[in-house]
Amino acid sequence: MTHAPDHAPAGPAASPYGTLPAAPRPAVRKPLSLPRLREMHAQGEKITMLTAYDATFAAVADAAGVECILVGDSLGMVCQGLSSTVGVTLESMRHHTDCVARGLRRAQATAWLIGDLPFGSYHESKEQALRSAVVLMQAGAHMVKLEGGGWTTDTVRFLVERGIPVCAHLGLTPQTVHALGGYRVQGRGDEAAAALTSQAHALQDAGASMLVLEMVPAALSAALTKELTHCPTIGIGAGAGTAGQVLVLHDMLGMNLGRMPKFVHNFMAEAHSVQGAMQAYVRAVKEGRFPVDALHAW
Ligand code: KIV
Repeated sequence: MTHAPDHAPAGPAASPYGTLPAAPRPAVRKPLSLPRLREMHAQGEKITMLTAYDATFAAVADAAGVECILVGDSLGMVCQGLSSTVGVTLESMRHHTDCVARGLRRAQATAWLIGDLPFGSYHESKEQALRSAVVLMQAGAHMVKLEGGGWTTDTVRFLVERGIPVCAHLGLTPQTVHALGGYRVQGRGDEAAAALTSQAHALQDAGASMLVLEMVPAALSAALTKELTHCPTIGIGAGAGTAGQVLVLHDMLGMNLGRMPKFVHNFMAEAHSVQGAMQAYVRAVKEGRFPVDALHAW
């Protein structure tokens, strides 16, 4: 009598389309939470984040071990074909947050879900910001992200006091690309560095529990990361010295309608699957192999 093997044989499965590696089983992990993210930060473990805009990519990212999924307003550029994030509406953000949250629930996934407040949805008043944040939280976000420093500090405090975790965003803030004069490195020079530093401290003091630093010189973001003991920095084009990293999903898969930014690495180029590319990203960030200051930073 022959018995079917308990497990599929290890190694590549034959396929008429080529040799496909066996899909790795998702690692079992507890759901990410603010305390868990704080613990990782305190222990010096790098935090990984990717953007996702739909259910399937979100579930795959979670299975690959990505800890934080950002439904970024970059969806305006990568999904909607807009030339900037300025045209993204709260309704679009609600819709995509809902899709991602549903994908994560179906996959019984564990990632921490961040919804991006789009341009114009938090600028009028703290009350408007609260109403917009409620829309994203009710769609399934665990945290909202908003761009800018200075005037946003009171808004962050207002949201945090009302039980809404907030991720701040300094450096290149794409919603203000027209005021900044393009997608340029921010915080260069003593004056700009001092302004960015004081905004970052104010945001931490207001209760922000994460801070995205985008296109900020590596030395400045490394220094800030050391100073901000209660607020992990998540870098994108900000060098290797931040507490975590984020990339736009389509960029790290090598798909970009425009010019690929210098801070991106195409993880798909060396992978056999999307999940494999995401796993390679997670490993590279955790092991400090991505980003490389000399290649991906200023
Ligand atoms: O919208 C987005 O994808 C972002 C990341 C680039 C941080 O804000």
